[in-house]
Order: sequence, then C-alpha cells, then structure tokens
Amino acid sequence: MHGWLFAFCRWVENTPLAVSILESSWAYPYVQLTHFTGLSLWVGTNVYLDLRLMGVGKKRQTAAQLGEELFTWNWIGFCIAITGGFLLFSIAAMTYYRNPAFRTKLGILIPIGIVLHIVVQRKARIWGQTDNVPAIGKLAGLIEFLLWLSVVTAAVLIPYFSADPS
Ligand code: HEM
Repeated sequence: MHGWLFAFCRWVENTPLAVSILESSWAYPYVQLTHFTGLSLWVGTNVYLDLRLMGVGKKRQTAAQLGEELFTWNWIGFCIAITGGFLLFSIAAMTYYRNPAFRTKLGILIPIGIVLHIVVQRKARIWGQTDNVPAIGKLAGLIEFLLWLSVVTAAVLIPYFSADPS
C-alpha cells in the first residue's frame, strides 16, 4: 500500500464526520440513500443519452437537444453521488482501499468513464444534430453504456471481496 494513501485512509476514517456516521444508529442508511440517489441520476441520464445516440427509444428530440436538456441534472447527480460515495468510503476507508472491486471501480473504471462521458457529452452536440448519428457516435454511446454497467457491477461486487465480513 502506498504510504500516503494509507495515511490518507487512516486520516479519513478518524475525521469527526466519519466517526459520527459510524457511531450513529440512523445516519448510515441516509448516506447510502444519498449515494444511490446521486448515482441513479448520474447513470440514468448518462444511459439515456447513450441510448439516444445508439438510436434506441422514441425520438422526441435529437441527441444534441437531449444532451443539452439533461446537462444540469446529469452533473448534479454526479456531485451527489461523489459526496455520498466519499462518505460511505470514509467510514471504512482502509478496508475499502484493500478491496479489489472497490479499487477497480474507483481507480480504473470511474476515471475512464468520466473522461469518456465528457467527450460523449461534448461530441453529442455534433453527432446528434439529426437522427442520423454517425457510426462513431453510436459506438461511443455503446462503450459509455458498457462502462457504467461495469462500474455498477464492480460496486455490487465490493461486499463479495471484503476481507471484513462485518
Ligand atoms: C459516480 C459514479 C459511481 C457509481 C455509478 C457508483 C455505484 C455504486 C453502486 C451501484 C453501489 C451499491 C453497491 C451495493 O450495495 O450493492 C455503490 C456503493 C458504494 N460506493 Fe459507489 N458509485 C460511484 C462513485 C463512488 C465514489 C466516487 C466512491 C468513493 C469515493 C464510492 C464509494 C462507494 C462505497 C464505499 C460503496 C459501498 C460498498 C459496500 O460496502 O457495499 N462510489 N456505488
């Protein structure tokens, strides 16, 4: 384990906020709810645009218009998901840090997913001006869709790789 990351995890676990969530009898489910609400909004709006680029669903508006309309809610969802995720992480940071599913999710899949999402969101303004989305736009939508599916899969696998069954 990298020394500074270990020190960071230990520090996070001992912050008053993390300790109070851990000791509270009611806070944890609300933190979970925050993470799930944010990630539903984020992943949901990402996938909506991806599917539209792929030509799936009713075409009430072009992918370019859809991307514009979803933009604000998309990034609000992201901020909520990150906040809730960080709070969940903070209560057992060292355990999560050692977890291969968590490391794959946070260290590989999410960074790639965010970069790809920014590219897709920007390019959708060009690719999605009409209903004839070019093949590259459809492919980018498909890849982004599969990436977020992988993030969710890695997240769901976190408890199965946990060294600490509690
Ligand atoms: C924005 C993209 C993200 C998505 C799509 C996502 C997805 C998920 C999902 C689906 C779960 C539920 C797993 C389950 O209970 O079955 C989960 C749990 C969790 N997430 Fe995230 N997450 C994201 C970001 C983050 C970030 C940035 C962090 C940390 C900084 C994080 C930390 C956690 C933790 C600690 C859990 C609880 C794992 C457990 O003990 O079961 N997530 N996430």
